Amino acid sequence: MKSCIGVFDSGYGGLTILNGIRQRMPEYDYIYLGDNARAPYGTRSFDVVYEFTLQAVKKLFDLGCPLVILGCNTASAKALRSIQQKYLPQHAPDRRVLGVIRPTAEVVGKLSHTKHIGVLATEGTIKSQSYNLEIQKLFPECTVVGQACPMWVPLVENNEFDKPGADYFVKDSLLKLLAQDELIDTIILGCTHFPLLLDKINQQLSTLHPQPSTIKIIPQGQYIASSLEDYLHRHPEMASRLTRGGMCQYLTTESATKFRESATLFLHEEINVERITLN
Ligand code: DGL
Repeated sequence: MKSCIGVFDSGYGGLTILNGIRQRMPEYDYIYLGDNARAPYGTRSFDVVYEFTLQAVKKLFDLGCPLVILGCNTASAKALRSIQQKYLPQHAPDRRVLGVIRPTAEVVGKLSHTKHIGVLATEGTIKSQSYNLEIQKLFPECTVVGQACPMWVPLVENNEFDKPGADYFVKDSLLKLLAQDELIDTIILGCTHFPLLLDKINQQLSTLHPQPSTIKIIPQGQYIASSLEDYLHRHPEMASRLTRGGMCQYLTTESATKFRESATLFLHEEINVERITLN
C-alpha cells in the first residue's frame, strides 16, 4: 500500500498548494482531496469547518496518509489547532497534520521592507485573525491589516476569474485593503484560490497604487513547499514512512467529471479522479 502525503482543501484552491509541493518534491506519492460538494468553507462557522476538516483528515488517514497538509487557509485558521492539540494526541499520535498559515507567516516578515503587511483572504480567515497573530508572534515589529474578499472564491470556483466581471470585485477588495494602510508593501494571498486572480490583481494594482512595482504579492505555493521540504529534513522518521512513486490520486466529494474539467484550470494535465463521501 502506498503511504502518501495527503493534501486537503475545501475545493480546487489547494491545487495551487499541491502544484508548489509537487514541483519541489515530485518523488513522493500524493492524494488530493477536495470537499467540492460542501465548498466554500470561507463563510462557514468555526464548528462546521472543524467538523468537515476532521472528516477529511480521517479519510486521508484511512487511505494510509501519515502526513496531511491542510492546503486551505480557512481550515488552517479554524481547525488546525484543535486537530493538532485535541484529536491527534488521543486518536492518531503517529500522524501529523500541518497547515499553510504558519509557513506563510514565517517568510512574509522577512520580505517586507516597510513592515506593513496586507492580507487578502476569506471572511473566515480574516475574522480568525490568524495571520495577524502568527506574524506578530514572529515579527512583533510588523503591522498587519486584513481584507475579506467574499466574492473571489466563487469567481474562481465558477471559472469567472479571468472574465471582465471579476475586475469589479478585485478592484473593490484591493481598494479596501490599501485604504487601511498606505505603507503596505507586501500582500499575502491568504486563500489558496487567489493565485488564479493574480493577473487581475496586478492589473488593478497598477491603476490603484502610485508605485505598483514596490508591492510584493505573495502566493503561498512555493513557501508551503519549501517549508514542507524543511519539515521532512527535520523529521526523517516521517520522510522514511512516505512512499516515493511520483503518483498523485485525486478525490472529490462532488462529481468526478466536474472536478476533472475544473481542475484543468489549475493543473494542465490529465488526472485520475474518484468521487468519495465524507461523514
Ligand atoms: N481555499 C480556501 C482557503 O484557502 C477557501 C475556499 C473556501 O472558502 O472554501 O481559504
